[in-house]
Amino acid sequence: MVRRRAQEVSIVTQHSVCPPTESDREVKGLHVITWGCQMNVYDSARMTDVLRPLGYQAVDAPDAADMVILNTCHIRDRAAEKVFSELGRLRLVKETRAAEGQRTILAVAGCVAQAEGAEILARAPYVDIVLGPQTYHRLPEMVARAARAAGAVIDTDFPAEQKFDFLPDAQAPQTPGGLTAFLTIQEGCDKFCSFCVVPYTRGAESSRPVESVLREARRLVETGAREITLLGQNVNGYHGEGPDGRVWGLAGLAEALAAIPGLARIRYTTSHPRDMDDALIAAHRDLPALMPFLHLPVQSGSDRILAAMNRGHTAADYRDIVLRLRDARPDIALSSDFIVGHPGESDADFEATMQLIRDVGFAQAFSFKYSPRPGTPAAGAPLQVPEDVKDARLQALQALLRTQQDAFNDGTVGRVVPVLFTGHGRKPGQLSGRSPYLQAVHVDGPDALIGHIAQVEIRERYTNSLSGTLIQERAFA
Ligand code: 5AD
Ligand code: SF4
Repeated sequence: MVRRRAQEVSIVTQHSVCPPTESDREVKGLHVITWGCQMNVYDSARMTDVLRPLGYQAVDAPDAADMVILNTCHIRDRAAEKVFSELGRLRLVKETRAAEGQRTILAVAGCVAQAEGAEILARAPYVDIVLGPQTYHRLPEMVARAARAAGAVIDTDFPAEQKFDFLPDAQAPQTPGGLTAFLTIQEGCDKFCSFCVVPYTRGAESSRPVESVLREARRLVETGAREITLLGQNVNGYHGEGPDGRVWGLAGLAEALAAIPGLARIRYTTSHPRDMDDALIAAHRDLPALMPFLHLPVQSGSDRILAAMNRGHTAADYRDIVLRLRDARPDIALSSDFIVGHPGESDADFEATMQLIRDVGFAQAFSFKYSPRPGTPAAGAPLQVPEDVKDARLQALQALLRTQQDAFNDGTVGRVVPVLFTGHGRKPGQLSGRSPYLQAVHVDGPDALIGHIAQVEIRERYTNSLSGTLIQERAFA
């Protein structure tokens, strides 16, 4: 595991996953509630994997669960309040089960746990375990301690050991049907954008070794995955130790992944403009498996605000990256994140963001009103933007992005695109799948196409999907 930056870490003794004891092996219910990004979805699956040897199996409802995990997200507003209100509900479940003689272990994981562990235990003393995102591999040990202990167990270190060295590899693709899978290759962030909690909740950037990623990818493909989305808070800052002892970037990793037989599609998210290097741009030209869709957050189009955000790039840098990407892969579709109302954002700054959107053209995007996150530099900054101004800016920005999304989808009508079919549509006889540009596509077709890629002529565009007809029923991949 290569860590990019020395950071203060609490050095803890290395713990391995506890072997199950006989009494551990009875079947117990586990209910995981997941908020936030795909990395949390991935982490929830890993926590489920790590608890399986202790006899825990997923159940649909908390009242059937011997253990409930809230995997939380802290990135935007009211995260902690949502957690406390869910905990209030779970307290009742726990009490009802206790009255029936059943124990329920309540765990809070994820970024809210990392940021507000002590507050959680003070406000919700019935919580048994609080664990940060870097300590999931120690969950079995924490469960054992919680079962024994009278008090709560809290573990929100950023340990020097790496959780991926101790977690089992993904046992199977995590998405329904298993044809598309997530794989976390990198965690944490050193960029310290003014508005963002991630560097504080997820710690410094670190990358998994190449071999460990390839092993997990091969396993996912063996169990049916045709598409893998590589995950990381700064995924294109990947710098994992290669089998040759050198540090590999994402381009090299993608090339090695593309050589895995049966793996048809590779995606990655989320990227930072500063880490969009030449090799990765060239990989979009050279690797057919690397899908022509890129989520590349820019946040703002104003250089003044980008500087205040500590983004480390200008609007011109972003435009230049887009030009080079389109040169390498002319059909690449772009997605982004935008924040309106960062402290100090004037009408002119907002207009610069609108102009950048008009110039670049996005296939889709996510946009947010700035919300102060305690402990981040922007939260205490002067010139906070009034809520009604943020509302108006968000509305204007989203209207423009919606127009662009519709125009992008309209642009695929009449084209023939390869679609990876992943399941059934809502109507009988209908299949659903994804285009290379991550568009949902529906066609009438045989079940045998599920798990395969076939050419589809796009006929119609709806609000959030496309429909088309198969022009080639025999799967070619
Ligand atoms: N306020 C609003 N949006 C935020 N994001 C991160 N922190 C904040 C905040 N404090 C958005 C950014 C980031 C996305 C995941 O969430 O746009 O890219
Ligand atoms: Fe947050 Fe900025 Fe790091 Fe993205 S790059 S995770 S926005 S600090």
